Amino acid sequence: MLFKQQALLRQKLFVLGSLAIGSLLYLVARVGSLDRLQPLCPIDSRFGPRGQDEIPLRALQFKRGLLHEFRKGNATKEQIRLHNLVQQLPKAIIIGVRKGGTRALLEMLNLHPAVVKASQEIHFFDNDENYAKGIEWYRKKMPFSYPHQITIEKSPAYFITEEVPERIYKMNSSIKLLIIVREPTTRAISDYTQVLEGKERKNKTYYKFEKLAIDPNTCEVNTKYKAVRTSIYTKHLERWLKYFPIEQFHIVDGDRLITEPLPELQLVEKFLNLPPRISQYNLYFNATRGFYCLRFNIVFNKCLAGSKGRIHPEVDSSVITKLRKFFHPFNQKFYQITGRTFNWP
Ligand code: A3P
Repeated sequence: MLFKQQALLRQKLFVLGSLAIGSLLYLVARVGSLDRLQPLCPIDSRFGPRGQDEIPLRALQFKRGLLHEFRKGNATKEQIRLHNLVQQLPKAIIIGVRKGGTRALLEMLNLHPAVVKASQEIHFFDNDENYAKGIEWYRKKMPFSYPHQITIEKSPAYFITEEVPERIYKMNSSIKLLIIVREPTTRAISDYTQVLEGKERKNKTYYKFEKLAIDPNTCEVNTKYKAVRTSIYTKHLERWLKYFPIEQFHIVDGDRLITEPLPELQLVEKFLNLPPRISQYNLYFNATRGFYCLRFNIVFNKCLAGSKGRIHPEVDSSVITKLRKFFHPFNQKFYQITGRTFNWP
């Protein structure tokens, strides 16, 4: 009898406990998502008087919640019209550099309530066929956003493609341009690793990095190898500077974005005239991934796909030394032009 009563009591306690935990989890989740809908403390007092370039965040946070709901389901034309959703041309573009951390940068900027990312690389300006489809085609590729939000897209091929600066200039001569760079030799090896993985997936064989990066006839660095050419940042930047003043560019340190993303993101927020909204809360280090991951709220977080952060093959140290020596003068020029110095060897 006593045993039966105890079992009944345990059962009741279990049900009550589950209910309490369930309610707690629900509340916590609501607060997490509400954080994006209704600020917990007045935004205005946190940022001081609103400047002309500033975005009315209170409205944005509220609207972004709705926007998210629209993206999950299929918004009808009527809903889109009702909520004043628009597809806007980008106000800022991450133009490169391939393997610099372009995806991480885009995803991390998207944590900001005033930023909406174009998820796919659109390749409008570097692909003649796409470019021929016209600017309306490009605009239609953009995500829905609220008029006060800014759209950002990334297509790393833009940085190295001859025709792109002029084409972007024709669209918007005052657009903001973001370039994320990594130490050039590491970037070249990362570039090679991506191609190598593609070949392996198709069961193909591929050359060793050393063979591609060094010309066997001269034993010098092979400047015809694309992974090497892409890392000569100053050469590409100089082409862009024929169209845009240096003030329209912001250089992001891709190596630092890996180890310490927040200060890099805060510099970008400043460059884009956005109030500082990305915080340490939004970024947490995931030891299994070995990288920082993104936290939108207490229930929703994500890490980048496994294709980001590959293990690089070991490269002969003499080749690395040769490459670093080769990039050195170009790097110096790059520091000089951009006003941003890195500790690259
Ligand atoms: P590796 O694969 O060489 O490590 P991109 O997006 O331009 O292709 O750049 C890919 C690089 O982004 C990766 O290069 C990785 O090091 C870097 N990266 C930076 N922050 C990252 C993050 N939080 N998660 C995963 N990769 C990140």
